[in-house]
Amino acid sequence: MDIYKIKGGKKLNGEVSISGSKNAALPIIAASLLADGETTLKNIPALVDIKTICKGIEYLGAKTDFDQNTNTLKIKTLSLKNNTIPYDLVKTMRALYYIMGPMLARTGETDTSLPGGCAIGERPIDIHLAGFESLGAKIQIEHGYVKARAKKLKGTKFVMRKVSVGATANIMMASVLANGETVLENCAMEPDIMDLGRFLIQMGAEIQGLGTETIHIIGVKKLNPVTYTIMPDRIEAGTYLIAGAVTRGTVKIKNVIPDHIGALMHNLSDMGFLLSQGDDWVKIEPSKKLKGAIIKTMPYPGFPTDLQAPIMALFTTIPGISVIIETIFEKRYTHVPELRRMGADITLEGDVSIIKGIKKLSSATVMMSDLRAGAALVLAALAAENTTEIRRIYHSDRGYEKLSEKLSSMGADIKRVEGGKG
Ligand code: UD1
Repeated sequence: MDIYKIKGGKKLNGEVSISGSKNAALPIIAASLLADGETTLKNIPALVDIKTICKGIEYLGAKTDFDQNTNTLKIKTLSLKNNTIPYDLVKTMRALYYIMGPMLARTGETDTSLPGGCAIGERPIDIHLAGFESLGAKIQIEHGYVKARAKKLKGTKFVMRKVSVGATANIMMASVLANGETVLENCAMEPDIMDLGRFLIQMGAEIQGLGTETIHIIGVKKLNPVTYTIMPDRIEAGTYLIAGAVTRGTVKIKNVIPDHIGALMHNLSDMGFLLSQGDDWVKIEPSKKLKGAIIKTMPYPGFPTDLQAPIMALFTTIPGISVIIETIFEKRYTHVPELRRMGADITLEGDVSIIKGIKKLSSATVMMSDLRAGAALVLAALAAENTTEIRRIYHSDRGYEKLSEKLSSMGADIKRVEGGKG
């Protein structure tokens, strides 16, 4: 297994270009199943999770061809067969559930392994399934699989009991080919949902209210394959902004939509960092006077839970006290014990963490437990004294394209080494 060796203490300086959004690309790749023919997706990041969803749609008979040099993915969906999405694949990535909505809409049946819990929480998919039922599907859980069947989905009014990115996307994908009108309430307003919606509209879907709590969909008979460019990854952008902050460097993030990281920019600016922005870039510079902050993770446009671990790494280096309240996932503090091994002063009480900034983190051998917890360790290592060894870096391969190359290009001393211990 590969490891990262990071010699900390270097200020990052320079520019970094943000890749396409993983969390927009995943449902969009699944949504390509809704049309018959060849879909071309541009700005697809070369990530393990993207390979996994491609494997998923290939199980159903789709053909995929990914060009890593141009980040272009071609998907042919000419002859779909109703195959099962097996446990062995779903256990490697929960987001394969995105195949359910489109398959139900296009073929009226799908058998998909029910995802189990994960490192950050229980993560049920009851809202997805209740939405499909509301559209007229019969759902049964048998032998660990969700069996969903519907002759023809029918428009409905469905209120989500909780704001869920995955459920909003999945139910939206199921309803675009349903008979009649669907009204979805308490929808997620994340940019990822808007990107999916724009893709579906370009395919011929009739959708209104994207980016609001209520989405109206009028079912159409058929959708057409299109060429579409995925939006930039706001979580990757936020991570590099924090990388600039944690090393007290000057970093310009290019190919970003500044509004998408508005909550983070607001917090960094309150803490004393100097931020400037253009149409598609954001720059961060350090200042002498820095102070802690209080953040509470919330659905968009609130502070994203995916940046909670990264900002905690920053808080460990900021004078004074910072507080985090994690409201989205019940177990999303697995990075805390690892940060403590680097000397961080963090007190945990339920969903609240209190972080007392220290002068300098110290190097240690640490282990990634999930994608964003892994990003926090990389950020902490960039600021720490001496060389930190980070294991289980396959987690960061799921969501950060060319992580070591991008950080190195701004002056970080990071090496990916083959053959480390697990
Ligand atoms: C997506 C993102 C993930 C991000 C999260 C919240 C992808 C692939 N993943 O995950 O990176 O951290 O949004 O922004 O895009 N819930 C239920 N029942 C459901 C669905 C969700 O109780 O049927 C709960 C979850 O356990 C969680 C909350 O709702 O507590 C929000 O989860 P959700 O927005 O669905 O997250 P994901 O779509 O899984």
